[in-house]
Amino acid sequence: MAEAPAKPKTAPATSGAALEITDSRTTKTYSVPITDGAIRANDLKQINTGAADDPGLMSYDPAFLNTAACRSAITYIDGDKGILRYRGYPIEQLAENATFLEVAWLLRHGELPNQGEYDQFVHDITYHTYVHENMRKFLEGFRYDAHPMAMLNSTVAGLASFYPSSRNIFDPEERNISIIRLLAKVPTIAAFCYRHVKGLPFIYPDNDLSYVENFLSMVARMSESKYKANPIFTRALEVLFILHADHEQNCSTSAVRAVGSSHVDPFSAISAGIAALFGPLHGGANEQVLRMVGDIGDVKNVPKFIEEVKSGKGQKLMGFGHRVYKSYDPRAKIVKNLADEVFKVVGVDKDLEIALELERIALQDDYFVSRKLYPNVDFYTGLIYRSMSFPTDFFTVLFAIGRMPGWLAQWEEMLLDKEQKIARPRQIYTGPAERPYKSALSAPSRGKSTKQKDALRQ
Ligand code: CMC
Repeated sequence: MAEAPAKPKTAPATSGAALEITDSRTTKTYSVPITDGAIRANDLKQINTGAADDPGLMSYDPAFLNTAACRSAITYIDGDKGILRYRGYPIEQLAENATFLEVAWLLRHGELPNQGEYDQFVHDITYHTYVHENMRKFLEGFRYDAHPMAMLNSTVAGLASFYPSSRNIFDPEERNISIIRLLAKVPTIAAFCYRHVKGLPFIYPDNDLSYVENFLSMVARMSESKYKANPIFTRALEVLFILHADHEQNCSTSAVRAVGSSHVDPFSAISAGIAALFGPLHGGANEQVLRMVGDIGDVKNVPKFIEEVKSGKGQKLMGFGHRVYKSYDPRAKIVKNLADEVFKVVGVDKDLEIALELERIALQDDYFVSRKLYPNVDFYTGLIYRSMSFPTDFFTVLFAIGRMPGWLAQWEEMLLDKEQKIARPRQIYTGPAERPYKSALSAPSRGKSTKQKDALRQ
């Protein structure tokens, strides 16, 4: 006879909504509260077989396909409807009207800055753009062909050694100055990485220029006393930075939060985000789009390439698909319009023709349509960056500059969230059971290692 259902072991949610679970192993029934459309994985622990070594039920979710790891008030995405909002403001309105630094303030503080707050913020950022001269020596040590993301990543991590007090992460003033320093110095470091690869002298920041103009000046200025950026390029870059500023719990932001949850300094946590962004499935996709277009080589090769993608034998169609957006990526829509404006200035070339043909064919092909694969933001950003003469391996660095305010806002939100602890997922162990040690090495090798051990002991 089946046992009578056990009484619920957890208090019901205040709303009263609960998930009734019957464990077929024991026929016991449990009630797990539902709050904000989620159950707490920890509430599953009470479900066990009664065996002494049963730690209780876990949820298994490789790649976090359906696990919320935090509560966040920063960015809202509805992937089915193609909605992206920062602190409630639609991305379309911010891209059209706001400045990047206004958005950076908004992401951190939750409200748009008033004039006084904005002026002070711009002033603080402007006057922290210089980096220590040792930093430039550090950069000079990289090889001429070092990838700029590798340089950016390690240099940002290196900033922790210049600001040891940044480890006082629960001091609001220390947090504030670290945030200002990262927003201010990352464009300078990025530009230095660019100049290093090109073998050009480093250009110091110009405090008379706006955030984006100053960055372009540090990248492109030669012998002229004052750099004048093309206003269309300046605006395009400002909009691209805004579009990249945050994207809730993506791979790099999750990396920043996870590393930051160990209470390390912000420079180290942010460098983890830069490392994650480097990957070709994340921010590195914009670089891969251009490499893919280069490999295709000619518009006439596009149908063959698409067939290879569909067969699974070739590479993926880079710049297509998204974990969250399943109707369209709202950022891609804005970037496409931006691309049209930039191409009016620089003209359409062979690579752009190939990209547009890829997009045209993929958008009407059942393989991509049935899997809800649409162009993502990275499909077009690389094309814009290239038309502005940025080298391909620099594209992800531009993404990193844009993502900085989001990483920082999410890092601080995580630190101040009383529910957060050091990130530490569970696992399902699949390795061997306990077994006795039996060396597979030959006797002389073992002898040598023993001698080395002895030497170490002395
Ligand atoms: N080209 C061809 N097939 C694809 C692609 C693609 N770009 N993306 C997904 N698929 C297929 C995939 O093979 C799978 O097919 P099937 O069901 O037959 O096995 C199906 O679509 C579902 O894909 P998935 O791998 O389960 O999707 P995911 O959510 O795990 O991956 C993604 C999302 C963005 C990593 C993936 O779409 C991808 O690799 N795209 C190319 C890289 C890219 O453009 N990344 C930039 C993302 S946007 C910027 C950012 O936030 O970083």
